[in-house]
Amino acid sequence: MRGMATVEQLKALIRAHFENNNEKFRTIVLQIAAHEAKVGHTASAREIKEIAQNPKYLSKNKIVRLNNKLDMLEQKCIDATLSDLVVPEELEIKINRILKEYKKIGILRKNGLKNRSKILLAGNPGTGKTMTASVIANELNLSLFVIQIDRLITKYMGETSVKLRQVFEQIHEIRAVYLFDEFDAIGSDRSLDNDVGEMRRILNSFLQNLEDDDSYSIIVAATNNPNLLDKALFRRFDDVIEYTMPDITQIKKLLKMKLKDNAATEVFSEEVYLKAKGLNHADIVRACEDSVKFSILEEEEITKDILLAYLQDRKDFYKYKGA
Ligand SMILES: Nc1ncnc2c1ncn2[C@@H]1O[C@H](COP(=O)(O)OP(=O)(O)OP(=O)(O)O)[C@@H](O)[C@H]1O
Ligand SMILES: [Mg+2]
Repeated sequence: MRGMATVEQLKALIRAHFENNNEKFRTIVLQIAAHEAKVGHTASAREIKEIAQNPKYLSKNKIVRLNNKLDMLEQKCIDATLSDLVVPEELEIKINRILKEYKKIGILRKNGLKNRSKILLAGNPGTGKTMTASVIANELNLSLFVIQIDRLITKYMGETSVKLRQVFEQIHEIRAVYLFDEFDAIGSDRSLDNDVGEMRRILNSFLQNLEDDDSYSIIVAATNNPNLLDKALFRRFDDVIEYTMPDITQIKKLLKMKLKDNAATEVFSEEVYLKAKGLNHADIVRACEDSVKFSILEEEEITKDILLAYLQDRKDFYKYKGA
């Protein structure tokens, strides 16, 4: 029986099958694979593992149940697509490459290669980092889980590492997009840190987990303060994507997209673009939405002056915030 499934394992498999317990079934299969690997049958171990982890066989409807275990994981449903995202062409190319490699995961793995799956998004607030994570999920028909860093980090020594471990277990078990949002909290926020070394340990623990990960999931970390991040961190990601404030081309696109047919042609003018300059995507979208709202309520077309005023509103907002 050396190297083969034991009768006990077979019985457990049969039971799991008739109980309709896919998770249990998969666990036993992975145990068999582990056993095969242990006795030196690495090829069959890999083959068994690949069957069990084939994305085709992982159904989405188990997510909710498993999600309940982890209170720092929040499942999000946003239906933004790549065409809603206004970014420079280089960024679109990078995002498309992630999508393409994911779709070709099978052929890449057959050739001993891995798809880009560990992505760091860095840049100004309101430029589309969180949105990008949901676009990737949407385009790949995957669920998006957002990891609440503040809920992950607790003041109890050791507990954070356990939670992190659990998140990475889910990453392995359930194929999805996992967004570690406001990621710099791990690297920088010491307010919860009674022991200075604790945050460092959490960061190291994250990096170790990231490095060990060979799942079919996509891991996205987003930060608007890349300077706070350790340089060692950048190396661990397959791709680093930098988000910047929108230029005139992007401003034009945002206005076209968000104002649709409600606006007078005079709106699309240099004066408006220059007014929008210096605001991030989120602010421009907001000013457009405010204008559309106004036009619906007042039953008026959006004029240049209306949009200019709402753009100025967004600018004034920063004064109040002292930014
Ligand atoms: N590049 C973009 N293209 C189109 N819409 C955008 C873009 N960036 C932001 N938006 C709009 O602004 C909203 C907020 O953006 P998002 O949350 O993705 O920003 P962020 O970069 O994650 O900011 P933060 O660093 O503050 O978390 C989005 O839901 C979307 O409506
Ligand atoms: Mg964000």
